[in-house]
Amino acid sequence: MPLDERQREYLRLMGIQVWVPRLHIPFGAVENPNHFTPMPDDLHESVDTVDVPVPGTASTCPLNWEDLEARVAGCTACPLHQGRTQTVFGVGTREAEWMVIGEAPGEQEDLQGEPFVGRAGQLLNEMIRAVGLKREAVYIANVIKCRPPKNRDPAPEEAAACEGYLKGQLALVKPKIILAVGRIAAQNLLKTATPIGKLRGQVHYYEHIPLVVTYHPAYLLRSQLEKRRAWEDLKLAMRTFRQQNS
Ligand code: URA
Repeated sequence: MPLDERQREYLRLMGIQVWVPRLHIPFGAVENPNHFTPMPDDLHESVDTVDVPVPGTASTCPLNWEDLEARVAGCTACPLHQGRTQTVFGVGTREAEWMVIGEAPGEQEDLQGEPFVGRAGQLLNEMIRAVGLKREAVYIANVIKCRPPKNRDPAPEEAAACEGYLKGQLALVKPKIILAVGRIAAQNLLKTATPIGKLRGQVHYYEHIPLVVTYHPAYLLRSQLEKRRAWEDLKLAMRTFRQQNS
């Protein structure tokens, strides 16, 4: 199905010229931007609680959404808690089919308590719209829930301390596809040190959930040329989603 006018507009807003080849895959979500109908119960069983590791111990404890959010809000498992204004848990529909995972909160996210609200967030919204969805229709979370000082890369110990929270969110949302934006998200989810340029362009799996890697929107703001590659990644994600759910 060719791109519709609205998608073309989003691509333009992403900074991508309308040279983009037409898609020949049907993508119902384009017709219906509210398309985030949960799967029937038998296919997409809802999960009420998930086992989340207790920091500093080898044990886990079962948590529901509210408990998990409260656990994150009070977390002191790594030194990042000392510099935060607040934790940044996640946002969007908790039954989302698409889950977008970024790195860590920046300044604006730390102040507002919501992922991707700064300039990179504006571009992420356009990327989400380019695949025919609204920001509210996906679930967005970060690998790290507290802002690293001066937006430095999170340390491996910090990512490890936060890992159970993201695992919990993934287990509760049960998305049908994961879009990992940026190197840190991709490498942490896939447990690899492979550079992002080699991770993108193929479908990976996170516990049987297809996972597509693309560039971080903050990087795309600085590297206009890579937006074309990001659009290729988004098309791969759309195709993968369609194939899994047709
Ligand atoms: N960058 C990220 O990876 N996540 C945010 O929430 C904001 C910026």
